[in-house]
Amino acid sequence: MKVITASVRETLRLGEFLSKHLKPGDIICLKGNLGSGKTTLTKGIASGLGVSRIKVTSPSFVIMRQHLEGRVPLFHFDLYRLKEVSDIAALGYEGYFYAEGISVIEWAQNLDCLMPKEHLMIELSYGSKDKRIIKITAVGIRYKELLREMRAGSLIRKRELK
Ligand SMILES: Nc1ncnc2c1ncn2[C@@H]1O[C@H](COP(=O)(O)OP(=O)(O)OP(=O)(O)O)[C@@H](O)[C@H]1O
Ligand SMILES: [Mg+2]
Repeated sequence: MKVITASVRETLRLGEFLSKHLKPGDIICLKGNLGSGKTTLTKGIASGLGVSRIKVTSPSFVIMRQHLEGRVPLFHFDLYRLKEVSDIAALGYEGYFYAEGISVIEWAQNLDCLMPKEHLMIELSYGSKDKRIIKITAVGIRYKELLREMRAGSLIRKRELK
């Protein structure tokens, strides 16, 4: 599924929309260059879960932040600085990925062989001006079902390319 957003506000709304379909244990992997909108999308997911958007940031030296005040715990990872898979393994990441929260992982490509077998992959890239092209792919049965539910939603249907 491909969605194009034309502003920060639209990317936030996409995140909010997505969050309505998320369940405990879901894993969202985000890929995309610096400034492509990964944190913005995460802020949208957070606010849809009932977490204040302001609390969701990507500070350089914090690898994971938990937000527990929403309807489901949110574990927000930013793996930009982690280049070695062994560093990630040392984090005890499994305790989060495979727990009763929702994990959103920026720079998920750095997970390499630790990438969860099933996940929702979201790849963000630049379009012209403030446009962002957001490609959403389901990996595994759970996420195929999630995409089906999302497709049924009107917001996405309007913006879907093909
Ligand atoms: N349609 C859009 N969606 C999201 N952000 C947009 C959009 N148009 C412009 N922007 C701008 O792009 C930037 C996105 O920043 P954001 O922190 O979300 O990116 P990021 O992918 O998390 O970057 P990083 O890799 O540094 O963590 C912001 O400066 C925002 O104002
Ligand atoms: Mg970010």
